[in-house]
Amino acid sequence: MNVLVLLGSLRAASTNARLAQAAIAALPAGAVATISSLPAHLPFYDEDLDVPDALPDAVAAFRAEVAAADALIVVTPEYNATMSAVLKNAIDWASRPRGAAELAGKRVLVLAATGSPRDALWARESTVRSLTIAGAAPLADTLGIPSSYAAFAPDGSLANPEHADALAGLIAQLTEQRATPAAA
Ligand SMILES: Cc1cc2nc3c(=O)[nH]c(=O)nc-3n(C[C@H](O)[C@H](O)[C@H](O)COP(=O)(O)O)c2cc1C
Repeated sequence: MNVLVLLGSLRAASTNARLAQAAIAALPAGAVATISSLPAHLPFYDEDLDVPDALPDAVAAFRAEVAAADALIVVTPEYNATMSAVLKNAIDWASRPRGAAELAGKRVLVLAATGSPRDALWARESTVRSLTIAGAAPLADTLGIPSSYAAFAPDGSLANPEHADALAGLIAQLTEQRATPAAA
């Protein structure tokens, strides 16, 4: 199984990057996960660029990554009550061409970490909504990690056993294909 991870934070010390690594560590043996480096290199979505003669190389490469994925994990901070712009831009590019998007039908697990004591519900909800409208099949269940600067053990695992169990359950849903997709 080929899992593509889209990370919504560009910060070197990102806690969402740590959450992505914890998710990757929870994948079953045999699954191959790649954290895409391309979202940071995509131009802002522009329909004038989204034509064969003008399509940026980074977009073509990103769409190929999405096409090759059996499932995706997206991990985003919450910025002003929504997902990060980096992630939204990547979803916009992956959502086209309309009717033939590589994102269509892909199973997606949505995770979010925030430094605040809340659990980034708005970021998760907005991500599921966008993915659903884009034609993907995000899991209805998501996981938000509050107070993320103190949420990880030195070995990179989630310090709170409830969070670790929830992540393991979601990874099982994603990889065993037994989850209910989010409603449109
Ligand atoms: C511009 C900006 C807006 C933010 N808005 C929110 C927010 O609406 N809700 C929230 O929980 N945290 C918010 N935060 C805090 C981020 O969740 C926090 O910076 C987080 O650690 C970023 O993720 P990272 O560690 O992966 O970079 C905001 C941070 C920034 C820089």
